[in-house]
Amino acid sequence: MHLGRKTLSKYLIENVSGTKDGADLAALLVDVAAAVKAISALSAKGALGGATGSMDTTNVQGETQKKLDVLSNTAFVNTFEMGGLVAGVASEEMDDPFPVKEPHTRGPFLAIFDPLDGSSNIDGNVSVGSIFSILRAAEGGGEPQMEDYLKPGTQQVAAGYALYGPATLLVITVGKGTHGFTLDHEVGNFILTHPDIQIPADTNEYAINTSNERFWEPPVTRYINECKAGKTGPRERDFNMRWIASMVAEVHRILIRGGIFLYPRDTKDPSRAGRLRLMYEANPMSMVVEQAGGLSSTGRERIMEVVPTQIHQRIAVILGSRNEVARVMQYHQEHDAGKGEPFSSPLFSDRGLFRA
Ligand code: AHG
Ligand code: MN
Ligand code: MN
Repeated sequence: MHLGRKTLSKYLIENVSGTKDGADLAALLVDVAAAVKAISALSAKGALGGATGSMDTTNVQGETQKKLDVLSNTAFVNTFEMGGLVAGVASEEMDDPFPVKEPHTRGPFLAIFDPLDGSSNIDGNVSVGSIFSILRAAEGGGEPQMEDYLKPGTQQVAAGYALYGPATLLVITVGKGTHGFTLDHEVGNFILTHPDIQIPADTNEYAINTSNERFWEPPVTRYINECKAGKTGPRERDFNMRWIASMVAEVHRILIRGGIFLYPRDTKDPSRAGRLRLMYEANPMSMVVEQAGGLSSTGRERIMEVVPTQIHQRIAVILGSRNEVARVMQYHQEHDAGKGEPFSSPLFSDRGLFRA
């Protein structure tokens, strides 16, 4: 029992409901929490709930959909449609945004979401999550147009994620810090357990999928090589590496103990600017991270200032502890200015075997 501890509803009443559209935004975040509880219950049943495994369908990105991708998408869409607080929704699992129509009521917001992040992990019983971004809809209550969705991340009024791990957490920001709530499964309440999360500015831990190394740009190769060189390299200290393949789980770890996460631009598929999607992965996570004192960049610009051109567009993501992200940005700058080492190997560093 958590009597006397702050619930999500209480937090929202105290911090959101007094602002412009605040009561509606608070109610919308309560709806998000309701969908998250449903997905949490479903994912926790595992194979017993019949929700593991794949569908025969692919999404607009050409990825095979998992059953839980589709069920989670339906949970969010139904909740938002019935809630009367959004004018339209857009999702990783739907080709196009979807306007709320009669008999449902349109509300003042747009919801953009990744219903299940890290879904390749479900069958292995590894943590997965959901990510959401809330924008204001155009005034007037009409059917939302594509341009209404394609707003830079700086215009998000709220963002956050749910993590379905050993515990289910909901981490949100409405632009007043980043706060984490843990689901008390027996009572059904989200309890404020991680108020005002602050990401440590420094870290010894990095997360990157090194199987893509041969496709990276030189500043990323330089940074990772320096981390790997550890005490014997220019950083003069050892680093540790993690890769869960669930962005939600990586970001959560970084919020709790610091770290840097990189899914950089690479040349693996020249038609795309990165792996992760701007509107429902990079932007909401950037707001969460910045509100917790971290940085989030493509390496060359602040992610939240990028003006989107497509709902499913991809982007490079480098986020986490501010001093490390700033260093990677500096390496990009030096590279673009023709300075810096194109390839920095420990063997060729000041202390290496082959001094230049
Ligand atoms: P999704 O399951 O929504 O498609 O997202 C998966 C994303 C992200 O969560 C993770 O960081 C990354 O893809 C994993 O990529 P790799 O398969 O290259 O490891
Ligand atoms: Mn995802
Ligand atoms: Mn997904």
